[in-house]
Amino acid sequence: MEPLSRSPGRAAWLLSCLALLSLHGCPGAGAQASRGFELHQPQDKVSVTAGETLNLTCTVSGEGPAGAVKWLKGWGSGNETIYEQKGSFPRVTRVANGSDMDFNIRISDVRPEDAGTYYCVKFRKSGISDEAVFQQGKGTVVSVHAKPSAPVVSGPDGRAGPGQSVSFTCTAGGFSPEDIAVQWLKDGIPIRAQQPQITSGQTKFSYDMSSTVTVRLQEDDIRSQLACEVRHLTLPAPLRGTYELGKALRVAPKVRVVAAPPNPVEVNKTVTFTCRVEGFYPGDVAVAWLENGTEMKVVNTSRLENTSRGLFRVRSLVEVRATEEKNGSVFTCQVMHDAQGPVVEKAVLQIAAPAREGLSDRSQPDNEKLSLIYTVVGVVCTVLILLVAATFYLIRAKQSKGKSSPSARLHEPEKSSEATTQESDPNNLTYADLNFDRERKTIRRMAEMSQQSEYASIQSSQAPANDENLTYADLDMVHLSKAPRRPAPCPEEASSEYASVQISRK
Ligand SMILES: *[C@@H]1O[C@H](CO)[C@@H](O)[C@H](O)[C@H]1NC(C)=O
Ligand SMILES: *[C@@H]1O[C@H](CO)[C@@H](O)[C@H](O)[C@H]1NC(C)=O
Ligand SMILES: *[C@@H]1O[C@H](CO)[C@@H](O)[C@H](O)[C@H]1NC(C)=O
Ligand SMILES: *[C@@H]1O[C@H](CO)[C@@H](O)[C@H](O)[C@H]1NC(C)=O
Repeated sequence: MEPLSRSPGRAAWLLSCLALLSLHGCPGAGAQASRGFELHQPQDKVSVTAGETLNLTCTVSGEGPAGAVKWLKGWGSGNETIYEQKGSFPRVTRVANGSDMDFNIRISDVRPEDAGTYYCVKFRKSGISDEAVFQQGKGTVVSVHAKPSAPVVSGPDGRAGPGQSVSFTCTAGGFSPEDIAVQWLKDGIPIRAQQPQITSGQTKFSYDMSSTVTVRLQEDDIRSQLACEVRHLTLPAPLRGTYELGKALRVAPKVRVVAAPPNPVEVNKTVTFTCRVEGFYPGDVAVAWLENGTEMKVVNTSRLENTSRGLFRVRSLVEVRATEEKNGSVFTCQVMHDAQGPVVEKAVLQIAAPAREGLSDRSQPDNEKLSLIYTVVGVVCTVLILLVAATFYLIRAKQSKGKSSPSARLHEPEKSSEATTQESDPNNLTYADLNFDRERKTIRRMAEMSQQSEYASIQSSQAPANDENLTYADLDMVHLSKAPRRPAPCPEEASSEYASVQISRK
């Protein structure tokens, strides 16, 4: 068949045909024009990422019948005209505008809903307003890839304490295709989670994802971070959503009240009660003091301090003058933390009874018992030591009879003789033991051997007022010389030794 060529004759035929079309159509025109006409839609499949531009290719060759070339999406019922020469298609532009051959188009800012099969179609006029499909391309399947939105990790509504298990959810949406991988990490270390739930998104061409993980909270988690990593074929690197575990954690304070100085205190002393509120998180805390259940006004609360582990501490002080009427008053430190019920700790002001009334303190019976035990033990020990000392002394005295250095000892009457002395003499009696060193004679032997003498002079400082004041001397240990008596006092010989016993009466 000879190819059709533009000629005045053909133009005239077309004009007459158009005139006929208004009434009866143009029978046989398609059959004539189809010769040599070919439509090429080379793309089978095209993938495009949402937001980018989609290029669709369609070229025709040869002469075709009158009628437009259009782009349709879908076939049959529900098809949609994507582009035709007339009309407005804001996102669609023709690459070669006005060309008879090149029907390539560009769709900018592609959306997930743009996914589908696109057909390049040549129509043939079949009436004044009707048109029939003359030839169609084989269709291009367009898939739109969509990046997931940045993952968002959400935690519980309220805080939970250490040891409690809490669920966290990671969501990302608007992605296509639906294959997606989710990985949870706690401080960079992968943790196990359930399989993500994939649901179709707001448009039926995109998908949403939800993944849940359960974490058992620990006190150390204040500075821990939970991360949700999402991998998708549209992403060159995983997307991350994070959650600071401190936002889900509550660590209750430990409360302690200490009194300085320690109770009991003396009357009129100033006592400082310190309430130590430690190891809590988060930092919102309110400390109040109650005196016998009534709130106190003057309170000194320190600034909030943050410890190295992220926990907080604070201390609150009240000063109280220990007047007698405050004896036994109860001072309560009341701590409200993170809208939780109060933690309370109490101290009782104890005022010691004045010293002259004795040291016993009924409020501390244990101390009293202890001190009693100590006293008894002390007394027993002292007695034992004295007994040992006395025994030792007696043994020494026996061993050194006549050997010991001169000494004098005043003592009460011996117990054995007590009865008789008391009978015979009711007055206070003092006995004196005189003890002379017999060895010392030898030192002075050379001076005067014949006149070795030892001397005991018993003098009473006060002349006895009457006969009842008697002074006894136990001369048991005195070795008396046989030398004739000399008047005393007198100048002593060099070798003589002297012991003077003075008895002073009360
Ligand atoms: C496109 O849809 C219209 C109406 O919905 C229908 O009349 C027409 O035949 C369809 N075209 C094609 C090519 O399927
Ligand atoms: C304590 O102070 C009050 C008032 O200042 C005074 O009357 C009282 O004698 C003081 N008591 C002692 C034991 O000092
Ligand atoms: C609170 O107590 C601290 C420490 O005892 C003290 O240094 C500070 O002056 C006090 N502040 C007030 C307002 O009493
Ligand atoms: C305070 O009370 C304690 C116990 O109730 C009591 O032993 C003590 O003597 C009291 N002190 C005064 C100063 O009354």
